[in-house]
Amino acid sequence: MKYIKCGAEVFEFKPKPLFKTCSYCEERAILRPEGTSLYLCKDCFLKFCEKRVNENIIKYKMFSEGERVGVFLSGGKDSATLLAILKKLFPTQNIIGIYLNLGIRYYSEYAQSAVEELCKKLEVPLHIIDLVEREGVRIDDFVFTSFKDKVCSVCGVIKRYYFTKAVKELNLDVIATGHHLDDTLSTMLSLFFNGDFISLSRLRPVLPPLHAGQAKKVKPLFSLPELDIFHYAVLSDLPIEGCSCPHGELTPAKFWKSWLNDMLKEDKTFKFRLLSIFMKKLLPLLPKEEPEKEDGFYPCQVCGEPTPSKSHICVKCRRVSLLQKVEDKRLEWTAEEFLTYYSQNRDKILVFDVREKEDYEKGTFPSAIWVDPNLVSAEEKDFFKHFKNYRRKELIFLCYSGRLSYLFVLRLRKLGFNAYNIKNPEKLLQKID
Ligand code: FES
Ligand code: ZN
Repeated sequence: MKYIKCGAEVFEFKPKPLFKTCSYCEERAILRPEGTSLYLCKDCFLKFCEKRVNENIIKYKMFSEGERVGVFLSGGKDSATLLAILKKLFPTQNIIGIYLNLGIRYYSEYAQSAVEELCKKLEVPLHIIDLVEREGVRIDDFVFTSFKDKVCSVCGVIKRYYFTKAVKELNLDVIATGHHLDDTLSTMLSLFFNGDFISLSRLRPVLPPLHAGQAKKVKPLFSLPELDIFHYAVLSDLPIEGCSCPHGELTPAKFWKSWLNDMLKEDKTFKFRLLSIFMKKLLPLLPKEEPEKEDGFYPCQVCGEPTPSKSHICVKCRRVSLLQKVEDKRLEWTAEEFLTYYSQNRDKILVFDVREKEDYEKGTFPSAIWVDPNLVSAEEKDFFKHFKNYRRKELIFLCYSGRLSYLFVLRLRKLGFNAYNIKNPEKLLQKID
C-alpha cells in the first residue's frame, strides 16, 4: 500500500499483523480503530468506517435519493476517503467530484493528478475549476500584495467564491466535505477560546442553505478520527497526495490537533467524549444562523455574483484586483533565463544551494552558498536572522527539483525579500559536473 508525497516520494504503509484475532471474524487483526477496544482485520475495518459514515448520513438526513451531491476534493486522504465511501454506500447517487486548482506551484499540480486518478478509479465525473484560467492569477501571486503573510485567508475567500459558483454551475443540491473528528474538535476549541460563538454554531454536521442558490453543506466524516481516515485511504489503495500546501501557517487549529492527540494518551475515548458534549450540550444552546435577506445583496460590478458589500464589488474581486497593480509577479526563472541575467548582474545576485551538504560539496553552481535544507521549517526569527544581511540582493535558490527551493522563496517573499527560484535546477547543477 503506497502513497505519494509531492509527486515523487513514495511512502509504503505496511500494517503489522497483531497477535489478535479480528473482533468480528476469524481473520488476523491488523489495527485498532482509534478510541475503541476493537481489533480488526482489513475488511472489517473498512466496513466499520463505512458503517459509521452511513449512520451519520441517515441520522442527520444529509441527502436523499435523486439529489445531486458535489464532493470537494483536495487530493488528500480526507476527501478521497469521503468520495470512496459515498460511492460505495450509494452507487446510484448522482455524485460529482469538484477540484479547484489554485495555481499553487509544486502543490496544485500534484493534487490535481491525484484527484484525476481517484475519480477515474471510482468512476466519478470530475469538474475542475482552474484559477489561472478563470482569473489569470495564482494564489502564490498574493505574496506580492499586503496579504503576503495572510495568503491562506485570501485563499479562503477565493475558495468560498468558487465553491459557491460550482454549486450554481453544476446545479448541486448538496455539497459534501471531508471534515473529520479532529477538524471538528480542533476548530471547536479554537473558536471556543476566541469566544466566537457565531462561527461555533456553524460547526454542525449539516448546514442548510442560507439563501436561494446555495446548497446544503454536509460533513459525513465529522465523527471519524483522522488516523482512521488515513488508514482507510491507504488500505483501500486510494490515489492520494500527501503534500501539504506551502502556505500552510501554524494555525490555532493545528495547535489544538496536537493537543487532542496528547490527551488521547491519557484517555483513548477523549475525542469521542468531547464531540458528544459539544453535540449534545453545547450546540443546542447556540443560536442557529438566520437565512440571509435577499434584499441585502447587490450584483458585483465586476463578476455579477451577489455581494453584501456596499461598494458593490465582491470581496473576491477586490482581492484579485490587488494583483492588477503588481507589474512583475515573477517568482521563478528558467536556468537559461537566469544565466543570461546573471552574466550581466553578478554583483547584485547571491545564489543559495539548499540541497544536502554532501551533494553541495560534490559540486554546485560557482559561488553558491550552502543553506541547511531544514532551515525551511525553522522558526520565523531564526529564518529571518539567517538572511537578514542579504536584504539588498536578489536571492536565487537551487535544490534538486525546484520544490524545496521554492518554499524558501515563498517564505522570503513573505518577509519582503527579493527571492527567486530556478525552475529547472538540474541544468545549472549539471553544468558543474
Ligand atoms: Fe489555500 Fe493553502 S490551500 S493557502
Ligand atoms: Zn465579484
